[in-house]
Amino acid sequence: MDLGLTDKVAIVTGGSRGLGKGIALGLAAEGCRLATCARGADALHAAAREIEALGADVLALPLDLTEADAAQHLVEATLERFGRVDILVNNIGGNRRKPFAETTDDDWDAVLNLNLKAHIRCSRAAIPHLKASGGGAILFVSSIFGREAGGAGLSIYNTTKSALISMAKIMALELAADGIRVNCIAPGSIRFPGGSWDRRVKADPEGMKAFVAQNLPIGRFGTAEEIADVAAFLVSERASLITGACLNVDGGQSRSLI
Ligand SMILES: NC(=O)c1ccc[n+]([C@@H]2O[C@H](COP(=O)([O-])OP(=O)(O)OC[C@H]3O[C@@H](n4cnc5c(N)ncnc54)[C@H](OP(=O)(O)O)[C@@H]3O)[C@@H](O)[C@H]2O)c1
Repeated sequence: MDLGLTDKVAIVTGGSRGLGKGIALGLAAEGCRLATCARGADALHAAAREIEALGADVLALPLDLTEADAAQHLVEATLERFGRVDILVNNIGGNRRKPFAETTDDDWDAVLNLNLKAHIRCSRAAIPHLKASGGGAILFVSSIFGREAGGAGLSIYNTTKSALISMAKIMALELAADGIRVNCIAPGSIRFPGGSWDRRVKADPEGMKAFVAQNLPIGRFGTAEEIADVAAFLVSERASLITGACLNVDGGQSRSLI
């Protein structure tokens, strides 16, 4: 299937490793021009070289999207380099895991800023330019724990990931007339070198074997490439009837019926 992404300009936040890097590589393989960012410059530039090796033109900006002006800077620099924006993938995210009663205002502010407000700022900065391009796509990387309870210690993460799905649905309604589709993906447990699941497997191989047996119906973790394939489809015109949706990409891991 030709996704029709050749020469589209895509911004992928957090492209230095993990899902973001996988999505950036996936979009580059489909012919996109890429702008990406992360705080750590060395890993970001190393990832940019891998993306360029696929033949893509890449803008790699070391910046911290939790800082108020960073999203605007990312979008403006993308426009300056490529002259347009067609796709925004809001990928960065993290957590402060602790029992709800022990969470502080600082914990909530920090994770809300990283998992939600950074995406709000990137989207607001990009929308006028997506409109100017005649339409486009915004994709949020939520989680299966935005659709169902993730378990004890995940109150902040769960809240922010649910909020993304809710917000994306309203954005989809508001932006449909402008030809801008807004969707979420909800990954399950994805393992990649140096990522959180990789570290847990290395620290506790037997415990993680049991986790896989109990929780992952396909008998293994997902990969960043499997996330990238779904992301590339969703931001492409082949998904022209899909907006306001949240798609599980989890090998059957989640239990929710919705
Ligand atoms: N891995 C999973 O199993 C899984 C499952 C469900 C959902 N998700 C979601 O998928 C997304 C990516 O997960 P991941 O596991 O790939 O995460 P990760 O390994 O922590 O990578 C996050 C990326 O974002 C960048 N980043 C983090 N904070 C940033 C900031 N303030 N400003 C700019 N860039 C920033 C990181 O680089 P720097 O640290 O150098 O800034 C890195 O490139 C997250 O939203 C996560 O919640 C992941």
